[in-house]
Amino acid sequence: MDNRRPLLAAVLGNPISHSRSPRMHNYWLKKNKINGYYLPIKVAPEDFERVIRSLIKKGFSGVNVTIPFKLSAMKIADECSDIAKYIGAANTLTFTEEKKIYADNTDAYGFINNIKSKYADWSPKKGSSLILGAGGASRAVIAALLSEGSNKIIVINRTIEKAEKLKIQFENKIKVESWNDLNEIAASSSNIINTTSLGMNDESFIPINPESIPKEALVSDLVYVPLETKFLKMARNRKSRTVDGLGMLIHQAIPGFKNWFGKTPVSTKELRAILMK
Ligand code: ATR
Repeated sequence: MDNRRPLLAAVLGNPISHSRSPRMHNYWLKKNKINGYYLPIKVAPEDFERVIRSLIKKGFSGVNVTIPFKLSAMKIADECSDIAKYIGAANTLTFTEEKKIYADNTDAYGFINNIKSKYADWSPKKGSSLILGAGGASRAVIAALLSEGSNKIIVINRTIEKAEKLKIQFENKIKVESWNDLNEIAASSSNIINTTSLGMNDESFIPINPESIPKEALVSDLVYVPLETKFLKMARNRKSRTVDGLGMLIHQAIPGFKNWFGKTPVSTKELRAILMK
């Protein structure tokens, strides 16, 4: 019998019931025969820091944080990774033996590794990348593309002012174009990435003409319900390479699991099926 104390981690958010992280981490714990637990915790915003401090005292290895704590997590951290600073938000906290908080953002890693797990030779260095949206997910994708050496990134967003703010944040390394020019810009893009909520639950769709999706492009959608959004279906019909959002969700969780539980977990078909239930 294993008499060692179980390893503990959690996800903190508000709301939290929709989070698929507990299912994913507990699946990996079981698969790897690790004595551990990963718990969802709904936290009132005013209690965030106190809850973190008490989890550290109780011996938790770390936590994921989601909306609305991605910025607060940076503020209470003793140290932040460069990519978390660059994105301006954290999603993964690791508690060190000295009881310090190390904040990281694994969304950029998840975005890149998900694509590379499907298309090993993919690189955004050549050609231009079009990102739809200018929220938190867009910031992670921009940081990811820049870190992979991309030097042509175009952001379009319904509210252009938000995209202009990102341009300042990323020191003019991105270009901002109008939402009205979506078709024209898409037609000359090598990568097209949807980071907006358009297409979620099939309740809305991206107003793009299928003909403007280049066959040679890699098309990625961060929405994963449904797994194949209308946008990805259009791209598949055009014979473009496609990447779904569930893979990014899985890949962004890998570094946290490794830090807290000591093993590198893998993305499997079985896990994808469990997460889509
Ligand atoms: P996340 O953290 O997932 O990026 P977010 O910060 O709330 O979420 O950003 C949501 C993105 O989806 C924004 O780019 C938003 O556009 P606006 O900045 O104009 O709000 C985009 N979005 C949401 N609903 C949209 C819609 N109906 N049409 C176009 N864009 C939409």
